[in-house]
Amino acid sequence: MCGIVGYVGDKTAVPILMEGIKKLEYRGYDSAGIALLERGEMVFQKNAGKIKVLEENLAGKRFTATCGIAHTRWATHGEPNDTNAHPHTDESGRIAVVHNGIIENYRSLKKYLEGKGHTFRTETDTEIIAHLIEDNYDGDLLSAVRKALKRVEGTYGIAVVCKENPDEIIAARHGSPLVIGSGSGENFVASDVSAILRHTKQVVYLEDGELARVTPDGFSISTLQNVEVTPELQEIEWSLEQIEKGGFEHFMLKEIYEQPVALQNAQRGRLDFEDGMSRLAGLQLQLDELLSINRVILTACGTSWHAALIGEYLIEDLSRIPVEVEYASEFRYRSPIIPDGTVVFVISQSGETADTLAALREAKRKGATVLGICNVVGSTIARETNGGIYIHAGPEIGVASTKAFTSQIMVLSLVTLLLGRMRHMSIEKGRQLLEGIRNIPTQVQLILDNAEQVKRIADMYCDHNNFLYLGRGINFPVALEGALKLKEISYIHAEGYPAAEMKHGPIALIDENMPVVVIALKDQVYDKVLSNIQEIKARNGRVIAVASQGDDEIKRLADHVIYIPNVLYHLSPMLSIIPLQLLAYYIALNRGRDVDQPRNLAKSVTVE
Ligand code: G6P
Repeated sequence: MCGIVGYVGDKTAVPILMEGIKKLEYRGYDSAGIALLERGEMVFQKNAGKIKVLEENLAGKRFTATCGIAHTRWATHGEPNDTNAHPHTDESGRIAVVHNGIIENYRSLKKYLEGKGHTFRTETDTEIIAHLIEDNYDGDLLSAVRKALKRVEGTYGIAVVCKENPDEIIAARHGSPLVIGSGSGENFVASDVSAILRHTKQVVYLEDGELARVTPDGFSISTLQNVEVTPELQEIEWSLEQIEKGGFEHFMLKEIYEQPVALQNAQRGRLDFEDGMSRLAGLQLQLDELLSINRVILTACGTSWHAALIGEYLIEDLSRIPVEVEYASEFRYRSPIIPDGTVVFVISQSGETADTLAALREAKRKGATVLGICNVVGSTIARETNGGIYIHAGPEIGVASTKAFTSQIMVLSLVTLLLGRMRHMSIEKGRQLLEGIRNIPTQVQLILDNAEQVKRIADMYCDHNNFLYLGRGINFPVALEGALKLKEISYIHAEGYPAAEMKHGPIALIDENMPVVVIALKDQVYDKVLSNIQEIKARNGRVIAVASQGDDEIKRLADHVIYIPNVLYHLSPMLSIIPLQLLAYYIALNRGRDVDQPRNLAKSVTVE
């Protein structure tokens, strides 16, 4: 999704801005641009395509500007060409705006402005903002932006510069994340902290309805209603090394390999062997509140939604509380029934997904206690929930989510343990789960040590154009996630199905050209899954099985067997997904795909 970086200080802005937007590349974009206040003039460069193109066009030009804004655009209104790339300007070219989000009433605003003699050069909604600011400008940029935004409906994170206010950036937020970075003699604006982490770890997150005036010496924050806000500085915990590839070819591979550490971090300090339960102070719920929970709703998008499905199996089976899982995009527009005793968990790696945030707000409006399971500390969802649990996976940069997924399951297992122990679960069962949880990071490492085998299978199957993924019980959502991983980064059509449902449709597709990835662990549904494998083999399908260590029987049926360590059924998704992540990665690599930045996808979807 779009990215914003702004700089005002005593250094040359171009390298800082360019490096900043490069750090945001992973979020997905199709054009990039920059605006600089250069010796009393506004200078622009913007191009469709990768940042490299922009860089080539800037090469050789000596810029001295110490103030500017830059942007990566993920097209929503108008195709991704040079003209529609940000920054956008007003009629006179004095004011430049970069914008994340969508202006919903842009048509009526355009008409209004055209009536006042404005002409428009692009098909974007953003250009309207620049003209609207111009319409209100009388030398005070902050006031002009405030007046303009009062007329705007929709979502925005914007940064604005004006030729006549050379040492000033105005930033404003409504629904699209924006952070102000505090430096010495310099200050920053960004849509994501990773863009400015090299320069500062002291940041202020803007809230919806807030504007910031940023100069080299400081910044002030006020609301749309012109009420002064005291900025709350926060320290970013992530290090620079964490947002670099560290010797791996891709962020995705690095993040797959970081899972043993991530899973360790997700459970650190949270296991209580004495009482056979977990400690989750972040939930901020009193004992009686925990006991009164009689229904759980899990809502999320994408991979986080798959983690939610696994959460349903965990919580219903082990805590014996009814659970509903819903896509956040559906939840927000339904009229969900939320009786007393309902707790809503919103699950989001980024903590910024627009649909998940809207679902959170809808649940709160209906009086539910809303808890978050997030990765990004200080993200909007983390701030707006009543309490929650950070997964502590560290920055996830590859668009295809991997370590956040397994860490979300880890945290859901801990929630299950807590809720279960307060109800029916015995202390022995609790300790058994804890023991299993403690072993997961080492077991994940064992699977990663066998990555070469998965790579060989990927080499064999990378030319196939359709894949089916099957699983049962708690491994059905893993089949969905395995298929999603393949789809996202290799652009191969893949479907996930509950194994037994295969005969109600997908079986028609099976022939020798249809590889079927089956999760067939030695659990309560093992025999049933074996029967499904027989059905595939009877139709000449090719079976790649993910099986339990020591299972020799499956070797006779499947074409390839990837073994994973023996594990408790309820914890098995944290292991069974690992070979599927690797399979997707190596197939995409074989096909020459851009693994970290797959086409059309965005890491953090901050528009509807
Ligand atoms: C995008 C990403 C997915 C992610 C989903 C939800 O589609 O590409 O990887 O699972 O958003 O994101 P969240 O940050 O809310 O978990």
